[in-house]
Amino acid sequence: MSNQAKVRICSVGKYVPEKILSNEDLTKWLDTSDEWISSRTGIKQRHISTTENTSDLCTKAAESILEKSGVDASEIGLIIVATMSPDSQSPSVACKVQGNIQAVNALAFDLNAACSGFVYASSVAEKMLSVAPYRYALVIGGEVMSKVVNWEDRSTAVLFGDGAGGMLLERNEHTHSFVSEDIHADGTRGSALTSGEQAVNNPITPKTTSDAHLKMSGRDIFDFVVRSVPKSVKDVVEDSQIELNDVDYFILHQANARLIKAVSKKLKQPIEKFPQNIQHYGNTSAASIPILLEELIEQGDIQLGSNQTIVLTGFGGGLTWGSLLIKL
Ligand code: ACO
Repeated sequence: MSNQAKVRICSVGKYVPEKILSNEDLTKWLDTSDEWISSRTGIKQRHISTTENTSDLCTKAAESILEKSGVDASEIGLIIVATMSPDSQSPSVACKVQGNIQAVNALAFDLNAACSGFVYASSVAEKMLSVAPYRYALVIGGEVMSKVVNWEDRSTAVLFGDGAGGMLLERNEHTHSFVSEDIHADGTRGSALTSGEQAVNNPITPKTTSDAHLKMSGRDIFDFVVRSVPKSVKDVVEDSQIELNDVDYFILHQANARLIKAVSKKLKQPIEKFPQNIQHYGNTSAASIPILLEELIEQGDIQLGSNQTIVLTGFGGGLTWGSLLIKL
């Protein structure tokens, strides 16, 4: 990093749709209960979009980030949206956000690494910004998972929610927030979580059918997370040459409260260092880490410029997983 510019986080923001669906609400059409959902996952409710698509949520998150930073949209050189539930394949959500906020000088693209998307996108943005001629990059994780889940499948429908969150990064002379990273993929195990399948379909192929709904082998994902995530956290901390005990907060993708507890136990770190908001939002995939980060900053638990150390860890479809160690 020595000859590269420094990159810091200057502001964060989020947006979630207004409509709340409680566990009780789901029992109106699913054979489930608040007891099952909250005891197995920690989820009590989720925000669900009624009309807004992923780009609408991301645009509102971007507006909030910019308002807090005082930076004009025209100063942004790069926009990356991490999403597995875009409005369309083209244009990308990032291009729609670029147009909506009039970030006329920004290049823009989407990145899909499922629930690890925010970690992947932050890593890519940091690398691009450190060598780029522009000063600011916007990284957003945004999802409308409610349009990809099968609302008749109780094993997945109860888990997900909609939302967007993100941060503004600035190339600067003094502060480098990104200390170390540990990022992985294993495509051989991709079938454990699939979504948005598109079968080959043209006049010269036999007719095929495909189900685009999200499908997940919950047990396989649980096992994968318990094996891979503690190692990733340990490795990213080791690379930064600090001790696990010196990390202030481990901000994990909010997939399941029991998973977070299992990771904290394996790392022998107190559960208080693993903040959670899954009870309010469910699993918002690429949006969960930035939404939680924004809330911790708003609550004053985390302060930008404080020199606190946090680890951001994502995991999910692909399979993908990874951690960033950040000094604020
Ligand atoms: N309500 C009531 N019963 C249910 C429900 C429900 N919503 N869903 C499943 N069940 C039943 C099942 O039918 C099964 O019944 P059976 O024993 O009669 O067959 C029983 O509950 C147990 O089902 P399991 O799937 O074995 O339940 P498990 O304890 O494994 O919990 C869960 C499931 C919560 C999904 C868990 O496996 C999990 O959290 N896995 C990790 C998921 C995850 O982290 N995903 C993150 C990545 S997501 C991304 O990348 C987009």
